[in-house]
Amino acid sequence: MSKRVLTARTLTTESGAPVADNQNSATAGVGGPLLLQDQHLLEKLARFNRERIPERVVHARGSGAYGYFEVTDDVTGFTYADFLNTVGKRTEVFLRFSTVADNLGGADAVRDPRGFALKFYTEEGNYDLVGNNTPVFFIKDPIKFPDFIHSQKRDPFTGKQEPDNVWDFWAHAPEATHQITWLMGDRGIPASYRHMNGYGSHTYQWTNAEGEAFFVKYHFKTNQGIRSLSTEQAQETAGKDPNSHQTDLLQAIERGVNPSWTLYVQLMPAAEAADYRFNPFDLTKVWPHRDYPLQRVGRLVLDRNPDNVFAEVEQAAFSPNNFVPGIGPSPDKMLQGRLFAYADAHRYRLGVNHTQLAVNAPRATVANNYGRDGFMASGGQGRHAKNYEPNSYDGPAETGRPLSAPLAIDGHTGTHEAPLHTKDDHFFQAGELYRLMSAEEQSRLIANIAGGLSQVSRDDVIEKNLAHFQAADPEYGRRVEEAVRALRED
Ligand code: HEM
Repeated sequence: MSKRVLTARTLTTESGAPVADNQNSATAGVGGPLLLQDQHLLEKLARFNRERIPERVVHARGSGAYGYFEVTDDVTGFTYADFLNTVGKRTEVFLRFSTVADNLGGADAVRDPRGFALKFYTEEGNYDLVGNNTPVFFIKDPIKFPDFIHSQKRDPFTGKQEPDNVWDFWAHAPEATHQITWLMGDRGIPASYRHMNGYGSHTYQWTNAEGEAFFVKYHFKTNQGIRSLSTEQAQETAGKDPNSHQTDLLQAIERGVNPSWTLYVQLMPAAEAADYRFNPFDLTKVWPHRDYPLQRVGRLVLDRNPDNVFAEVEQAAFSPNNFVPGIGPSPDKMLQGRLFAYADAHRYRLGVNHTQLAVNAPRATVANNYGRDGFMASGGQGRHAKNYEPNSYDGPAETGRPLSAPLAIDGHTGTHEAPLHTKDDHFFQAGELYRLMSAEEQSRLIANIAGGLSQVSRDDVIEKNLAHFQAADPEYGRRVEEAVRALRED
């Protein structure tokens, strides 16, 4: 026997010791019971039992890739964000795409919004923009989010998605009519993650070096072109390859066909918000481009697949409250709810030190603070760094400079409904979207809605939903009603 058996190809235990036999477990005699001293067997079985962590409560299925964002246009008049301050400047990014409603074991080719969660590793810390492929959302108050998601995910008794629950929630959420019209339309099932747009969806705040505030909406337009699947194509694709989006993204980047998006923003001077015809902080509404035109900012390119899906995609943690100087939240209630929800989810799912994982840690700078310890802490901040502040040892200190401009507030505390502006109701923009569609797209939209709504068991739930489409546009409502009736008479 040689003195040293370890080479680069030697199989080892977790602690790095060589493994003698990876095919036969140790027994007491030939054919005898197992030995408790078989460290390799015990470790192998025990690790296997612990491989899974809780999946995300929403957006469980996803795919991710690295790349960069490059500034192409000067936006320094609107934000002093460092990563946006020079044309040509590049910032490393990680983007995780996802479906929303189904569990980790679902299929990619389904009618569902897609997540578009972007982490910019800037020199002033990580900036997370956690958006979707839709410019609007179903609800506008975070207090409704758990109920909404319960109604769209698997029923606790039947263990599967139930049209009764999906449409019963929507029957009670007229504000969802706009997003439902979007989802049931042609863009409701993207052909792949590469062939769809991404939106910040919410209104955010930019602040420039003079301290002026602008409200901003982000639009990432795909340079691959929009491609979608029909309901029938999607059913076939989901059956043939449940991982169709993952396959597409992985293979495109491996082939060097790197997907890209062009970032545009809509900018509203803060003073215009109060009198705008739509409440600019209502997530169920868009700002028509004729009111606030798109302005180009830069280019997002994905060019590197992660080496390990679990480490880098499953453990990726995005939080809408990871801002950098020059960018901040708006008073959008949904956004405000999300500022809490994500980091809380990460502490539960990944632990308090999730920010130390390679995919989540800052890359262009370092975390420099007084947070210490907790499960899986991988090192402090040096032996001389104090873990309290203030201190007399030149520890890290606050800048004293607000990240974004302060916003004026008035009124009383209380559980208020979102304020209505002159053109605000639940239906106007849904009707506008319907009227924008071609005749063929309208027909597909009607068929898609009727296909789902006709499966609902209660007439009163169907009636309430029909009333929403009717309110959006009388023709829209009438056609959905006729299509539902025809399917139910079949
Ligand atoms: C109040 C409303 C909302 C709440 C409470 C909420 C909460 C959550 C939670 C708890 C997760 C799982 C996080 C994790 O375990 O990693 C999640 C994921 C996600 N949410 Fe939301 N969400 C809300 C609305 C939205 C909206 C409006 C959007 C898009 C505009 C959105 C986009 C996403 C995306 C993209 C992910 C997946 C992030 C990833 O890839 O890791 N969510 N959300």
